[in-house]
Amino acid sequence: MSLTANVHQSIEVAMYQQSVERVTPGAVLGRTIIGPDGTPLLRAGAVLSAAYLRSLRSRGYKTVYVRDGLADDVVPDDLVSQRVRTTISDHISGAFAQVALVACERGIGQGTMDDAERQLGQETLPVDDGDALMAQLYADVEQLITELLESDTVAGLESLRSHNEYTFQHSVDVAIIGVLLGKQLRMPRTRLRDLALGCLLHDLGKVYIDQAILDKPGALDEAEFELIQQHPRMGFELIRRLPVASMLPAHVAYQHHERQNGRGYPRGLIGGSPVGARVVDEQIGSRQMLLIAEIGAVADVYSALAADRPYRSALTPDAIITTMSEMAGPHLNRDLVRTLRQLVPAFPVGRWIEVTGGEFRGCRGIVTDLHLADLEHPQVRLHIGADGEALRDPVELDTRRAHDLTLRCLQAHESPTDEQMVVLEIA
Ligand SMILES: [Fe+2]
Ligand SMILES: [Fe+2]
Repeated sequence: MSLTANVHQSIEVAMYQQSVERVTPGAVLGRTIIGPDGTPLLRAGAVLSAAYLRSLRSRGYKTVYVRDGLADDVVPDDLVSQRVRTTISDHISGAFAQVALVACERGIGQGTMDDAERQLGQETLPVDDGDALMAQLYADVEQLITELLESDTVAGLESLRSHNEYTFQHSVDVAIIGVLLGKQLRMPRTRLRDLALGCLLHDLGKVYIDQAILDKPGALDEAEFELIQQHPRMGFELIRRLPVASMLPAHVAYQHHERQNGRGYPRGLIGGSPVGARVVDEQIGSRQMLLIAEIGAVADVYSALAADRPYRSALTPDAIITTMSEMAGPHLNRDLVRTLRQLVPAFPVGRWIEVTGGEFRGCRGIVTDLHLADLEHPQVRLHIGADGEALRDPVELDTRRAHDLTLRCLQAHESPTDEQMVVLEIA
């Protein structure tokens, strides 16, 4: 089934993405917000009162989907249900906490990495109910892979998330993007499992780093940067001491900050492009990055750029694609970035865009549909004219056919003003 058919067959709600800062009290919530414990915080259809909006802001939510009649047939898809995403994120958070506890008991993190390796010993980590914990993560991996293998749609990876839960949401996002890439490369399921688990745990080594350093708004000093650079090896040392069936997930953690040109850390491995036979068979132990680690690196960068961080706002989806295309070659595997561009839209459904070149230059509207074969040229509906006034009759535009037309996504805080939307509704 094509994405177009999928979108058109599920006409239920009207919504588009709006910055929480810009939502006028009284607007209707378009999509249920799931809280950190996995239960709904606020259900779709709720009227967003000033108190609700204040509460969402204080919990770190930056955007919500609202309904107000502007885009009645626009239904953004979720790649993985919010429920599954939240459950896995919750389990990851538990695993990190358990591992941190063992580390704290042994005083790990004070000395060098070699000290830490000695303190950890060669035994399996005495994590409370470690087998049950890993069984749960393997079950999560199966569910994630099954959902992604069954899905035939391409959707933005934007979920309604709070930055307070960054590390765990990030881990799930990296696993989702990693599995999507592996699926596209026709990777066997056993290898997808190693990839997904490695992605979920890739930043486990950060459990020893002070949260204040991880969230530091400014540049890191030399000592802080040295500490940050230890997390891939620390992650490797920890994962290989968990009851994990293969060494590959530990290597995803070890190698996820390596670069194609050998200038990454911690070991300065080089990239192994092209992808080819490495999809099914490759050996650990060379100076080359493993393919699943190269996938992890691409997914890690995508997820990091897509998230709000204390030191910068999230990049828009089109800016992420541009940035990653610039990184392809020296930093990221070129083939994998090309594959990613076929999977994630630069202009996701439900997003506000501005026409930056061609006949409709300066007009603003909402992405209403995607074309699977050409994700960078979506279907859009223009609502606001180049003069900033609401158009009496919105313009439906297939941007594949509009000559010289270029687009950019609006930042959440740039959405057209609420006054303009009111004018439109009255018209
Ligand atoms: Fe990392
Ligand atoms: Fe990461």
